Amino acid sequence: MSHAALRKSLLAWYRANRRDLPWRRTRDPYGIWISEAMLQQTRVETVLDYWPKFLQRFPNIAGLAAAREEDVLAAWSGLGYYRRARSLREAARAIVEKHGGEFPRERESVLDLPGIGPYTAGAVLSIAFDQREPLIDGNVARVFSRLFAIDDCLGTPKSERRLWDLARELLPRSQSPGDWNQALMEFGALVCTPRAPRCEECVLATHCAARIAGRVTELPRPKARPAVLDVELEVLIVRRGGSWLIEQRPEDAARMAGLWELPTREIGPATGLFRARWQPAGLFTPGREVGRVRHSITRHRIDVSVREATLAKRARLPAHFAWLRPRAESQLALTGMARKVLAFAN
Ligand code: ADE
Repeated sequence: MSHAALRKSLLAWYRANRRDLPWRRTRDPYGIWISEAMLQQTRVETVLDYWPKFLQRFPNIAGLAAAREEDVLAAWSGLGYYRRARSLREAARAIVEKHGGEFPRERESVLDLPGIGPYTAGAVLSIAFDQREPLIDGNVARVFSRLFAIDDCLGTPKSERRLWDLARELLPRSQSPGDWNQALMEFGALVCTPRAPRCEECVLATHCAARIAGRVTELPRPKARPAVLDVELEVLIVRRGGSWLIEQRPEDAARMAGLWELPTREIGPATGLFRARWQPAGLFTPGREVGRVRHSITRHRIDVSVREATLAKRARLPAHFAWLRPRAESQLALTGMARKVLAFAN
């Protein structure tokens, strides 16, 4: 299939099948940037909920730059990968400082911003500014791997180079590069899906090298993944009136630094990742288990025993503890796991 025919078929498919998503109704680089940062890690349905709230709270770059970090983390709370939220705020500050508060239009300046890599740069520049900039995400990598029967495992330098070269070559000259990039991603999300791709309704099927070779479900060859680790935690529900006892993770924690969670103990194995700090001995008396909650963070599969507990009489709480008042959850940067347990125990 010529590149021209490929572009034409896919763009026609996109015009007829694109989802009407709120961030597709704006050309504001800030809104598009935030949507792309969220979409990199989260399903569309979740982003539909978070994106409008985030933009309402921090309506523009200056607003995000001026925000307190803990407020940005609170708005991000539940999306995970909190380093991204910190980077967004840092990048907003850099844009105010170096670019007068306007999202830069030069690729090099965009890539200089904290937390922005080639994917996000390509997405914002092509979608907001109609620049001929390519992008590769998981969806596009899968579409190309199948269309051109690429055998290299995803994530290797060789396959990365090949995918980015293809993305650059295929970019249309006379049509919107933003629409083209979004068409590729949308096609990967709706038709050329990881499992059970919809080849019967695929407008590119007759030209798909993997399809012709009967290798669609073999491709792309996945990146070797680190093994899943099972972790068991005990999380304590300590009430005072309508409030819950919460604990802040240290600023230098390897994960979820500075976020708030319920007092947690690692039952096994002791990874040190999920327990905020050593709690003073005898601070709590654990009571009955009220249920179990399952949660996943990166490669950890967590089984949580939720227990009621009481605070020792005349206990002196260290400064990193606080009482979470009823209905104050949305103002605080709680971990996703804490939100899940609170919703469960409420
Ligand atoms: N995934 C991430 N960003 C996207 C976009 N702009 N369109 C379609 N899928 C996406």
